Amino acid sequence: MPLTTSSTREIPETGMIPRHIAIIMDGNGRWAKNRFMPRVAGHKRGVETVRTAIKACVERGVEYLTLFAFSSENWRRPADEVTFLMQLFITVLEQEVAKLHENGICFKVIGDLSKFEPNIVEFIRKGETLTAANTRFTLTIAANYGGRWDIMQAIRKMLGQRPELATCFDEKDLMPYFALNYAPEPDLFIRTGGEKRISNFLLWQLAYTELYFTDTLWPDFDDRALNLAIQSYQKRERRFGRTSEQLQIVQPPHEGREIAAKRTA
Ligand code: IPE
Ligand code: IPE
Ligand code: MG
Repeated sequence: MPLTTSSTREIPETGMIPRHIAIIMDGNGRWAKNRFMPRVAGHKRGVETVRTAIKACVERGVEYLTLFAFSSENWRRPADEVTFLMQLFITVLEQEVAKLHENGICFKVIGDLSKFEPNIVEFIRKGETLTAANTRFTLTIAANYGGRWDIMQAIRKMLGQRPELATCFDEKDLMPYFALNYAPEPDLFIRTGGEKRISNFLLWQLAYTELYFTDTLWPDFDDRALNLAIQSYQKRERRFGRTSEQLQIVQPPHEGREIAAKRTA
């Protein structure tokens, strides 16, 4: 049964650890350029940061981490960089999937895989099957992913399976068909590298996500940098259209906090 929780309905308590973090890992090329190295050296170094980020999220009790590894627009890059990124993706998959499984991590890939070599797709599907029953933490890699692609493929799939909805359907009908249908919507979105844009990442799912932008380049995004992002998130008041007054905090002694609006949502 897909988990189609809409974060526009559920109000997490202020100060909580985000359940789902989605990251645009940007700045690898500039990191390398700053060191007079080829851009691809930045991508290689970026893989180390991915390992650190996964560990840090697991330790903090984050349940879902979704990483943008390759966008549907990244094919526009020079051919040698695209080839390097594909090769790096395969190498990392081969090295890491078994380790993810040992650590109780569920591994998923979202994106249009039709452009990938069949052997890569097979390897991805095997990894997903191997780790499918792991519940501790879910790592999703967005590869050849685009938010617009996701919305379009969801509509196509839904209509293929339920043609009677062609003239009338609503959000609830569509949600099970999104690539990320197994995860709640991200609570915290992080983009490293200084740009302040979404770059066709999770367009539908980020509707009410808290956004955090940092100038830190992805290879430099360490534990401390992640803490800063989480601390920023913890100070946000998530209102989902309501007023601040509606979210008044009821604090019964010794029983922790409860948000009044949660009960009436
Ligand atoms: C992000 O880093 C990694 C990918 C898009 C694969 P970039 O390669 O975009 O790095 P910058 O933005 O050029 O510094
Ligand atoms: C976004 O980074 C995609 C990934 C991190 C995979 P880009 O560096 O490609 O984004 P734009 O093109 O500058 O917006
Ligand atoms: Mg970039």
